[in-house]
Amino acid sequence: MKEKIQQLLETKKKIELGGGEKRIQKQHESGKLTARERINLLLDEGSFIEIDAFVKHRCTNFGMEETEAPSDGVVTGYGTVDGRLVFVYAQDFTVLGGSLGEMHANKICKIQEMALKMGAPIIGFNDSGGARIQEGVDALSGYGKIFYRNTMASGVIPQISVILGPCAGGAVYSPALTDFIFMVDGISRMFITGPQVIKTVTGEDVTQEELGGANTHNRISGVAHFMDETEEQAIKRIRILLSYLPSNNLETSPIYETKDDINRIEERLDEIVPLNPNKPYEMKEVIELIADDNQFFEIQPYYAQNIITGYIRLNGKTIGVVANQPRILAGCLDINASDKAARFIRTCDAFNIPLLNLVDVPGFLPGTDQEYGGIIRHGAKMLYAYSEATVPKVTLIIRKAYGGAYLAMCSKDLGADQVLAWPTAEIAVMGPEGAANIIFKHDIAESENPIETRQQKIKEYRDTVANPYIAAERGFVDDVIVPSTTRPRLISAFDMLESKRETNPKKKHGNIPV
Ligand code: HXC
Repeated sequence: MKEKIQQLLETKKKIELGGGEKRIQKQHESGKLTARERINLLLDEGSFIEIDAFVKHRCTNFGMEETEAPSDGVVTGYGTVDGRLVFVYAQDFTVLGGSLGEMHANKICKIQEMALKMGAPIIGFNDSGGARIQEGVDALSGYGKIFYRNTMASGVIPQISVILGPCAGGAVYSPALTDFIFMVDGISRMFITGPQVIKTVTGEDVTQEELGGANTHNRISGVAHFMDETEEQAIKRIRILLSYLPSNNLETSPIYETKDDINRIEERLDEIVPLNPNKPYEMKEVIELIADDNQFFEIQPYYAQNIITGYIRLNGKTIGVVANQPRILAGCLDINASDKAARFIRTCDAFNIPLLNLVDVPGFLPGTDQEYGGIIRHGAKMLYAYSEATVPKVTLIIRKAYGGAYLAMCSKDLGADQVLAWPTAEIAVMGPEGAANIIFKHDIAESENPIETRQQKIKEYRDTVANPYIAAERGFVDDVIVPSTTRPRLISAFDMLESKRETNPKKKHGNIPV
């Protein structure tokens, strides 16, 4: 018996060494952690239980029967984060470049199925040369199986992808099907076709980093949600993200008790909106002043910065925040902002996270770029996402709420359960400047002093129409509140809405304009 146990321990030890010490050293030299180091950093200490460590590939092409591939290049299992169950897999680049073959894919599929059955989040570390070339169609089929399971798990359990090395070709589509993608500057690379293929086909010269690095996907393409300087930072951030999320779609997020006063009055909010309506202010300051312990966990902070998305807690409960950012493009909605917000709203709705919408929006961004790019169908995603969301929805109109963008930021008619406004709110079909030019065109043209008349008419319009009271008279705004009392008022609103139950008509699935 002793001998058998000894043999088992030795085999496990060998498997744990993956591709061997030399390749581990190479991995470290390139600034990367190994698959097991990553998993151990993510999970609560000592909680990792590995599954399928003994799995081997079955490929006999190109002399593969001679090739040892410990764990078949992917470490899989389960453990806990802050005591909550999660499932993990980490591709091991030291074993055949983390390439994905039949059994490697089967291991990932098994973990996906277990996560779905147990209703627990799954976190996948991607570090791979892609489809294992020797295995041909078996490798391709493996990816197909993973994509299918990603889709089936979508909206049921949180799925998180961490790109910590190459992730190329069709391999990018598993992360793309998940809820959140983490990247690390200088380490992560994601692209459908690499620089060499691009050079051949289009003649363009581009480096791997420019093409698919963390900056590219966080700032330009919007594929990724987070960018960190180091793997350690990224992994810490994953743990924080998980703290805001429920384990599955039948649960609510965990409650984190706070010492922050739920009745906290924040005088700064009474003066944060500048008198001049064309002057910006920092919307993130508003969010932080409202939130428990002034903590805001931002999602996609580098992309479409004219809209802000992320999580706060109010009285310990997770709330998803969508807010216009007056400092960028005056807070206009454009194609990218609409995509970013719509995706976030649907993620929150899928996981029972109530929505807080902070509105200061002068409209949709004008221009041929936007129209030709399909702002109509992209903007429609926001209307759709808000309308179908059945979680508690609270909208706070801070300043501008003009035209279609007023509706797109979750007006009463799109199902907002509570619409509050500050006295600085201006709810109108369009901004006073544009409106005065149209409805007072003749008065301005016939005036002896057109500039002065125009200014007077703008003021007249603003005083008459662009305020929260007309909307409040019609019940589109439930209450106009003193800004400094916003935190207690929002906490009260979300407490009141906690028992909200709403169901949409039964259907196979909706047809969101994608
Ligand atoms: C088999 C692979 C492999 C692969 C890497 N390796 N990629 N083995 N299939 N796809 C092996 C290498 O042979 C090498 O083995 C080890 O992994 C490390 O690779 P290196 O090349 O030495 O590392 P590095 O210099 O860091 O370069 C990494 C790399 C490069 C950029 C990823 O390996 C590469 O270009 N690989 C091929 C990428 C590719 O074209 N994949 C197919 C994409 S198409 P040894 O024994 O020397 O250590 C795809 C389709 C998916 O994935 C479709 C889904 C629908």
